[in-house]
Amino acid sequence: MASIPTYKNYIGGHWVVSRSGETFENRNPADERELIGLFQRSNAADVDDAVEAAARAFPEWSHRPAPKRAELLYRLGEILRRLKDPFARDMTREMGKVLKETGGDVQEAIDTAYYAAGEGRRLFGQTVPAELPDKFAMSVRSPVGVAALVTPWNFPMAIPSWKLLPALLCGNTVVLKPATDTPLSSVNFVKACEEAGVPAGVVNLVTGSGSAVGTPLIEHAQVRVVSFTGSTEVGRDVNRSCAQTFKRVSLEMGGKNVQIVLADADLDLALEGALWGSFGTTGQRCTATSRLVLERGIARAFTERFVARARALRVGPGLDPSSEMGPLVNRAQRERVLDYVEVGKKEGAKLLSGGNTLDGGELRHGAFMEPTVFGDVTPSMRLAREEIFGPVASLISVADLDEALAVANDTAYGLSASIYTRDVNKAFHAMRELDTGIVYVNAPTIGAEVQLPFGGTKQTGNGHREAGSQVLDLYTEWKSVYVDFSGRLQRAQIDTEAES
Ligand code: UN1
Repeated sequence: MASIPTYKNYIGGHWVVSRSGETFENRNPADERELIGLFQRSNAADVDDAVEAAARAFPEWSHRPAPKRAELLYRLGEILRRLKDPFARDMTREMGKVLKETGGDVQEAIDTAYYAAGEGRRLFGQTVPAELPDKFAMSVRSPVGVAALVTPWNFPMAIPSWKLLPALLCGNTVVLKPATDTPLSSVNFVKACEEAGVPAGVVNLVTGSGSAVGTPLIEHAQVRVVSFTGSTEVGRDVNRSCAQTFKRVSLEMGGKNVQIVLADADLDLALEGALWGSFGTTGQRCTATSRLVLERGIARAFTERFVARARALRVGPGLDPSSEMGPLVNRAQRERVLDYVEVGKKEGAKLLSGGNTLDGGELRHGAFMEPTVFGDVTPSMRLAREEIFGPVASLISVADLDEALAVANDTAYGLSASIYTRDVNKAFHAMRELDTGIVYVNAPTIGAEVQLPFGGTKQTGNGHREAGSQVLDLYTEWKSVYVDFSGRLQRAQIDTEAES
């Protein structure tokens, strides 16, 4: 039997085993017979070690000039470029999405490295006029402190990079707790950070479960800022916990994203967008298209073509270049999605295709299922309201644009929305009315770029944004500085005219 690699935590610049002395398995969801590695089953004592290491590293790192911190991120970008292929393969092995997409995931981390590095020579503050003579007024950004980063399995390198790289650029030190389904991609990412020359303690990695690692991490007294991506249920608990100690917290949570197709749209384009948005990443993106809202005139024709194309998608292992859709991340996730198929049938939606596991031949060793399409969905059904996080698309017909927008916004979430139309007036109307953090015109609901803010309204988030220059507001404290060079006491807001 080939020897199984054991991966360690990274704390204070050393690769170390957990104090628990225990490990957990990471298996390939396309073929569960393949054990990818053993990872540290860490606990609160490991979290203490990591947070203390991060706190010790903070003074030196936060005083290093931002352009110097940025140089390290440029180096990291180069290293990730060099290792893109092996990192993508490892990612496909541990979470299933097809190689093209895991390459895209690493690419997103590369993009983030260069983008964050560019901020090293900006990190803009403001200078504003002072109201008194011989006085200077400005605002500057200063780092917050130790950041706790809790990341999901669906973008195992991109999302850690969104959090970690701007945090470092701003002068913070971090502890990363990756999802238990994808620890290898985080180990790879942190190894790349080590190679780039990140000083000991600036980046720390602790693997393990949410309850044993995530909870003590976000509760830790020395952690000042928390960034979490995951479900709305867990996000609510994270928020509550952070409220106890007034930690700054950014939450990226669920979505119920919509693609609207109007009757005047380029239907070929809308079809390609709908397929990619619904079944790319096996539907396991926060931004995945979960609802297709179709204007009545084209609903029937569009549905027929969509169903035919969904049926024809090649489902298989992500490492096989002919596969268009990989497995779900694990069997439990597949069960969750299959439960929704049952819910949809019971609610009276019409199962137009899919809905079953794929267990033939080699696929029986993995968590595969068919791309699934439901027709005759109404906005009040659970199918149309709850996040499914799997390859299930629900089709809803509407009379016109106004009804489409009402249906689109009739959800607890607000991450991403898309509209396909050739009418510029309708497009701009939708851009204004869609209550989401991201809007696409003639493009699918997935595929945000890192130089614009990423996040959503309502129960998708808590008002913060990742990516773009907006993320800098999470990882910095604003400090307003007044310099009085008059040499005398000047009292703001006091009526100086009356005094003189
Ligand atoms: C996610 O699903 O959590 O916009 C992130 C996109 C990707 C990121 C998705 N760039 O689809």
